[in-house]
Amino acid sequence: MKKQLLLTIMLCAAVLTGWSQKFDELAATPPMGWNSWNKFGCDVSEKLIMEMADALVRTGMRDAGYEYLVIDDCWQIGRDSLGNIIPDPERFPSGMKALGDYIHAKGLKFGIYSCAGAMTCQSRPGSRGYQLQDARAYASWGVDYLKYDWCFDEGQDAKAAYKTMSDALKASGRPIVFSICEWGDNKPWEWAEGIGHLWRTTADIRDCYQCTFDWGGVGVLDIIDKQAELYKYAGPGHWNDPDMLEIGNGGMTKDEYITHFSMWAMLASPLMAGNDIRNMDDQTREILTNADVIAINQDAKGEQARKFMDMGEHEIWAKPLDAGEIAICFMNRTEQPWVLNYDWKKQTMYFATEVKLHKQDYTVYDLWEHEYLGDTSKKLKKTVPAHGIVMVRLVAKNK
Ligand code: GLA
Repeated sequence: MKKQLLLTIMLCAAVLTGWSQKFDELAATPPMGWNSWNKFGCDVSEKLIMEMADALVRTGMRDAGYEYLVIDDCWQIGRDSLGNIIPDPERFPSGMKALGDYIHAKGLKFGIYSCAGAMTCQSRPGSRGYQLQDARAYASWGVDYLKYDWCFDEGQDAKAAYKTMSDALKASGRPIVFSICEWGDNKPWEWAEGIGHLWRTTADIRDCYQCTFDWGGVGVLDIIDKQAELYKYAGPGHWNDPDMLEIGNGGMTKDEYITHFSMWAMLASPLMAGNDIRNMDDQTREILTNADVIAINQDAKGEQARKFMDMGEHEIWAKPLDAGEIAICFMNRTEQPWVLNYDWKKQTMYFATEVKLHKQDYTVYDLWEHEYLGDTSKKLKKTVPAHGIVMVRLVAKNK
């Protein structure tokens, strides 16, 4: 009898270790997908999610790498007498398992949302006190990704609250990416590696280049500014999350959206599209599926770009890539074009020491024009549009 008990305990420990390893291996590159919140808010339903799954496949978004289809707030309506979470039966009549199956059959992964507080930000039931039960329910539905918010936190310790859900997910028997969403309030970059795979660093994004709201909403430029110091905390399996994408939602110009996408790629940010994929225009699709830019985001080295030159309204950002290459963004915050006549040579020492590049000439490849612009032995002559960027990859010549 004792022997049997021991064996069971050993088996459980082995399985748990295996699962926990799987957890640690998730999100080796920044997660990519789609989330309902930015465009649809509380207006979520299985119909919408199934249509979005179809659209992710039809538009080529899935093949470009967008794999997690995440239902944000408002899918949940209450708890039953046993404490089980109840999805809204009118909006999700087939149930979450069936929806998960539909999503998986499309070659996508299933994401869901909850909150560490007693209620979500939209006052739906949160997971406080129900973490194990909720994690088990998610696993039984085939959930692959959980975004976990911080409203109604009731004075909990953030690290402890997120660790409780992290442990519950690890024990659920299913590898689930854990997205921490406490808006950077408790500096999660200092404690969340190993607890979650990504953590929000700011208040909620707004669909604007530069704007701030007194309730905490922030535009693209302010978000970028807040990431500059955080590069050392990002790496495979643990990413800073400057919030979801607004590309295609109509609030910014084409050049501003290109800046938004390029910089999220440079920052090794999760790329969670937040627009209506079902009827996006060509311009939006071309931005979101730019394979050259996505490759910078998904680079195996997993380094976040750092701002290595700040000239006030003109900035240069550098992201070290695998195999000694580097991505560079020239970012123009002004409303006038920035005429570049850029001498790469002056930066050689910086690249060699800070970004650990070999001292050599590189071929310069423009990631939006998709063309070679010569090499780093010559000056770069380009014009950066107002509120726009020029983004290049320095390709090793010995490749
Ligand atoms: C918070 C989060 C958002 C979104 C909403 C949902 O504001 O930061 O991303 O999930 O809650 O209520």
